[in-house]
Amino acid sequence: MTNSLKETIEAVRKSFLAALDSFPSDHIEIETLKNNYFGRKGELAKLYAQMGSVAAKDRPDVGKAINALKEECSRLFEDEAKKYISSESTRDDVLDYTLPGEIQRLGSTHPISKTLKEIKDIFTSVGFHITYGPEIDDDYHNFTALNFPEHHPARDMQDTFFVQKDVVLRTHTSNVQIHLMESSQPPLRYIVPGRVYRNEAISFKSYCLFHQIEGIVVDKHISFGDLKGTLEYFVKRVFGSSVKMRFRPSFFPFTEPSAEVDIWDEKRGEWLEILGCGMVDPAVFENVGYDPNIWHGYAFGLGIERIAMLKYGISDIRLFFQNDKRFLDQF
Ligand code: PHE
Repeated sequence: MTNSLKETIEAVRKSFLAALDSFPSDHIEIETLKNNYFGRKGELAKLYAQMGSVAAKDRPDVGKAINALKEECSRLFEDEAKKYISSESTRDDVLDYTLPGEIQRLGSTHPISKTLKEIKDIFTSVGFHITYGPEIDDDYHNFTALNFPEHHPARDMQDTFFVQKDVVLRTHTSNVQIHLMESSQPPLRYIVPGRVYRNEAISFKSYCLFHQIEGIVVDKHISFGDLKGTLEYFVKRVFGSSVKMRFRPSFFPFTEPSAEVDIWDEKRGEWLEILGCGMVDPAVFENVGYDPNIWHGYAFGLGIERIAMLKYGISDIRLFFQNDKRFLDQF
């Protein structure tokens, strides 16, 4: 046997005995020590790897010496390790495999997003495009261009959050009617989803922020019948054909005539308003430079929370904004 390999075997033996002297008590470190000597890339494997360079005649002796070292070390290691690892126990200091697994929780779509998607799908299926507009807007687009005269009491219908003088958090998505008509030529057929803000008393059916979908159609021969037909179709697709709905005459400065649509709330036993609508007032067309003698149109504004409340039997609008998992998990 070559002297140098003999020395190496002896050195491995010595270092192993030294390691045994300071035998670790931690399971992971014990595992590491085991690997360092007995693993695929451990000290013993390294010794075996050197066999290739040993002269053929010496190989049996070298093999025996390494085998003997391996047996000795294994025995010593097992004896020592037994003191730390009870053979009956499957417990591990770091990983306790007997604990129940962790359940991965999946998120769910917020009921407002769900309802919004459904409404978008219905309108796009009958030819509406989708667009968006600013949530912070000037007084002109939120009020004046929509035919609310300055200092007119109609502005009191919507208690407004002012960002600064003449700049408001929009009180409805109707501001986008104006942006749209200012930037494009008729005919047009759009829905406009978005958030709106109102500084009003909070209750089960009103919150300071909510979501609307504006609809606007402008073309040459548009009548109130088109408006009624479209909204009836929409309501039946959302609530089913047995839904109880009614058009109720109403007033908005930017539509004439105007109406609101109520849905019968079975749970509460009363009508709940879900949208305002009407024929676009000629004054609005004039404000955006459309000729009211050529163009006619209708507009509507749906309250998404109200629709979601009816659809899912939710009794309080505030639930949508509280992010209570017990509520959200139901969708
Ligand atoms: N903007 C009105 C509201 O928020 C709804 C509406 C939109 C009415 C379009 C008529 C036409 O109450």
